Amino acid sequence: MSAVPAALPPDLPAIRATRARLGDLVVTTPVREWEEPALAREVGPGTRVFLKEELFQRTGTFKPRGALSVMLNLPKDALARGVTAVSAGNHAIAVAYAAQVLGTTAKVAMPRTANPYRVEKCRELGAEVELVADVHVAFTRVKQIEAEEARTFVHPFEGPRTALGTATLGLELMEQVPDLEAVVVPIGGGGLCAGVAAAVKLARPDCRVFGVEPEGADTMRRSFAAGSPQAIDAVRTIADSLGAPHAAPYSFGLCRRHVDDIVLVSDDALRQAMLLLFASAKLAVEPAGAAATAALLGPLRDRLRGRRVGIIVCGANIDAATFSVHLAAAALTSRGTMAQEENLMAKARRTTHRSKTGKKLYAKRDAKGRFKDIQTYERAHRADLAHKSKAEVKAKRKRGVKKTSRKKTSRKK
Ligand SMILES: Cc1ncc(COP(=O)(O)O)c(C=O)c1O
Repeated sequence: MSAVPAALPPDLPAIRATRARLGDLVVTTPVREWEEPALAREVGPGTRVFLKEELFQRTGTFKPRGALSVMLNLPKDALARGVTAVSAGNHAIAVAYAAQVLGTTAKVAMPRTANPYRVEKCRELGAEVELVADVHVAFTRVKQIEAEEARTFVHPFEGPRTALGTATLGLELMEQVPDLEAVVVPIGGGGLCAGVAAAVKLARPDCRVFGVEPEGADTMRRSFAAGSPQAIDAVRTIADSLGAPHAAPYSFGLCRRHVDDIVLVSDDALRQAMLLLFASAKLAVEPAGAAATAALLGPLRDRLRGRRVGIIVCGANIDAATFSVHLAAAALTSRGTMAQEENLMAKARRTTHRSKTGKKLYAKRDAKGRFKDIQTYERAHRADLAHKSKAEVKAKRKRGVKKTSRKKTSRKK
């Protein structure tokens, strides 16, 4: 296999060569036009929406495109020594997958707060996982691993080869739907957007590209405003995959050059988009996977009215419990569809284990049984869950005590 030159910036031949090199280690994911009355109600008539279903990529996100693009270009001896990575989950999973299919080993540092489902997925793929205090410590730890074990660090979003990998996704989309007028791309650190935006503009310079960030992790928007890559102190969003604490020069440069605008979405909007994708498009996605849809339903709705819009549905690695809490929260606020809301309300009314906090908050719902906001619902739900499990433990203990005393009685006889 010959190495693909990492041109600066990516060009079409390099993107095509990268795609050829990735071969069947990644799949060409489907694009589907999303035609549904529920969507039309949200975006207005005339807007045509094309879902790039990258959640069906190997490992559940676009991430193997970048990780493999880097790792396939490592010298043989470096690959044999293994790789290391830092990640809240999806990049670690992709690196674990890439290491497995390329016949080497991966050791990854993840923050303790990483979703246990993702940690498990990494381990299943054979990676050694080190859980550390937070993402900043994880970056430090990974540098130590790199130095001590001579493993190659595979960056989660920075660098020309990563961008070439993500560019294969952008080019694929433009080949599948050549006459798109806009593409909407989620941004974490910016590697996905850097590659996709470059490929879109190379294929169709007049197609607009919009980046989307969560309100609580708007690193790239701040970097655009400052004119250089910026860091943020705290990341506050349910879209953990979009919570990169800083931007980096190469991906920042490509985004700056090719992205027309960056918009922000709230956690509530992410949940609403997850609900719509689930109920109407039949896709179960993680919050990051719903970010582009949230932007189209919110800040981009009027700007893209009547246009042909590509939406990058970039990932779906979420556990069932977290997914259901987000969906329930979305359905219980005013924009949830009536049917779902009614079902959930009926369920909520049947709840027998109601904590003191839960009771108080449920009592404050409006005449239709709706909570003031999602945070209030989540507080009530959590308090009830905690109360319910305490009640179950108590009940078990009680049953245990009864059994013991019955045994004692029979022995006496
Ligand atoms: C599902 C998903 N979407 C989007 C992103 C953001 O990608 P980037 O950090 O390259 O901007 C990530 C990053 O891990 C991700 O896992």
